[in-house]
Amino acid sequence: MKLNKKDILNALESITVPGEGQNMVESGAVKNVVVFGDEVVVEITIKNPSLQAKKRTEVDILKTIHEQVYEKAKITVNVKVDAPEKSKPNVIKGKAVPGIKNIVAVASGKGGVGKSTVTANLAVSLAKMGFKVGVLDADIYGPSIPIMFDVVAEKPLAVTIEGKSKMKPIENYGVKVLSIGFFTQPNQAVVWRGPMAAKALNQMIFDAHWGELDFLLLDLPPGTGDIHLSIMQSLPITGAVIVSTPQNVALADARKGVAMFQQESINVPVIGLIENMAYFTPAELPDNKYFIFGKEGAKNLALDLHVPFLGEIPLVQSIREAGDFGRPAALQTGTPLEKAFEKLTQNVVQEVVKRNDDLPPTEAIKITTMAGCAAVKK
Ligand SMILES: Nc1ncnc2c1ncn2[C@@H]1O[C@H](COP(=O)(O)OP(=O)(O)O)[C@@H](O)[C@H]1O
Ligand SMILES: [Mg+2]
Repeated sequence: MKLNKKDILNALESITVPGEGQNMVESGAVKNVVVFGDEVVVEITIKNPSLQAKKRTEVDILKTIHEQVYEKAKITVNVKVDAPEKSKPNVIKGKAVPGIKNIVAVASGKGGVGKSTVTANLAVSLAKMGFKVGVLDADIYGPSIPIMFDVVAEKPLAVTIEGKSKMKPIENYGVKVLSIGFFTQPNQAVVWRGPMAAKALNQMIFDAHWGELDFLLLDLPPGTGDIHLSIMQSLPITGAVIVSTPQNVALADARKGVAMFQQESINVPVIGLIENMAYFTPAELPDNKYFIFGKEGAKNLALDLHVPFLGEIPLVQSIREAGDFGRPAALQTGTPLEKAFEKLTQNVVQEVVKRNDDLPPTEAIKITTMAGCAAVKK
């Protein structure tokens, strides 16, 4: 059978481009149609860069021409992707930051549950395992990472990298640190709007000289508001871990935190839940556990929400002291606390690896240093 271009174009008019509302001929997506005998070549440009969108477009075109024009037509579809330049935000969500393999947000619905403490200890544990680690303290309400890393008095210097001036993170305990606290006056109230906070964080990521990092941990402000939306939408976050105590008020907020990350406009994978202050243990009676905030609340919430449970950290005076002193407890070699943080950290790494295997990458490079974890543990 002899095909003609007009029939093919008519058929293509019945296909709408996902998310664009117009048919693919009208929208200009069809760049060219070439017909010879029973062969058809369709050249098409779509805006959606995902593999699924590409595949779906191909399948739709094949099916439509076969059904509406000629069932034996030999069809070649060439799909090109042309993401729109203008509508790009500062950063395309999902675009990787050069050199940074994974950005892990540490969040909590409620303040004071130990989010910063967990972030600081995860960071030093990761560094001890041989990973390259940075911490970005994004807690605009109460940046406490400088205290926990004993770098309060430091000010990041500018360095020139490839002709551009960049902020150099402060380093301690093998962890590179930048904090929103370095740029605000300690006793001055700063009223942040979401886009402002997102812009400041973007600068601390893209205009900073982090170098190569396996993990950048992001200590988020508590809550689930407009600030979080702005941050999440403008940064390519690999996944989020959520910290909660076992107490009901904290759990209710943690549940909101999980829902926030999972909502469609944010869609950041939840790597798992961490139970902090799981029980109190007095130094002189290390085998005694007092479940003062309730028992296994975060663990049960993880089960209920079908997200991984990453582990528990007890309420121990020396964790608080270490935080205030500026030397995270996970650095205390040979202690049960060091072990507890190490186990938690391994679970986090494992879940990030799984996430990168299962889901479309925020950044394609996978962590290959799990063997490194085991080696460092010896
Ligand atoms: N597991 C823990 N054991 C003892 N004290 C803790 C523990 N976790 C956090 N703290 C203390 O509780 C307070 C609040 O913790 P912080 O990490 O600042 O919480 P957030 O960042 O969620 O507001 C800090 O004084 C910290 O030292
Ligand atoms: Mg904090």
